[in-house]
Amino acid sequence: MTASAIYGVYGASGCGRGVAPLLEDQLQHQNDIEIVFIDDGCVERVVNSFRVLAYEDFIRSDIAVKRVTIAIADGLIRKRLAARCVSDGLEFFTTIANHHVSMANINVGEGAIFCPFTTVTSNIHIGSHFHCNIGSYVEHDCVIGDYVTFAPGVKCNGNVHIGDGAYIGTGAIIKQGKPEKPLVIGSGATVGMGAVVTMDVAPGSVVVGNPAKPLLR
Ligand SMILES: CC(C)(COP(=O)(O)OP(=O)(O)OC[C@H]1O[C@@H](n2cnc3c(N)ncnc32)[C@H](O)[C@@H]1OP(=O)(O)O)[C@@H](O)C(=O)NCCC(=O)NCCS
Repeated sequence: MTASAIYGVYGASGCGRGVAPLLEDQLQHQNDIEIVFIDDGCVERVVNSFRVLAYEDFIRSDIAVKRVTIAIADGLIRKRLAARCVSDGLEFFTTIANHHVSMANINVGEGAIFCPFTTVTSNIHIGSHFHCNIGSYVEHDCVIGDYVTFAPGVKCNGNVHIGDGAYIGTGAIIKQGKPEKPLVIGSGATVGMGAVVTMDVAPGSVVVGNPAKPLLR
């Protein structure tokens, strides 16, 4: 029997392979759906029991309802692929794992992925295509832009603003800001794994260490 809706996890590598089972759990009570990977570079036809389709084959599939999430950690690539999906009229969906907790007054854009054991507390605005990896949290009064990536175990404390496309590495800790002076991580910045961010981070810069300082090359 042909499915009535097809959900595409864009990217069959590590990130996508972690997301597809979450989606399978999330959609377990819906009949008539198929979850596939979309990946133009994958030589395998099936990965972890999900079919792998090239993007054009996904688009051409005659199933009426097609939804996509982009499971690629690099925010710039996510942005490019999202534009491609939009131009083909695809809808995005949000993946929310069991054991995710969202508290009060949370606003999240389309296409987000919340992995297991993530928490978003209160009065938080998050843009589109956010990745919140395993065990990360976002505390109160944060503002997070589009295409922001949290690797596993990020601790983002209250009153922090993070610009579009920023990447926060595994286990980074971001100090709280103040309501009148949030701590700001600029657009396109990278925070290295294990960094302890105590002050603003310039857009496009890479910071590492405790306290986090620009990476000198
Ligand atoms: C910060 C980061 C982006 C730099 O990557 P890079 O440009 O490839 O840097 P390199 O690995 O060439 O390292 C350059 C220098 O920085 C140091 N360095 C790299 N990452 C560091 C970190 N997180 N903390 C402290 N020092 C770090 C290296 O030891 C090296 O030092 P040296 O020049 O004295 O030998 C990267 O190391 C990082 O932390 N990425 C996040 C990884 C992550 O969280 N992945 C999650 C996957 S799910």
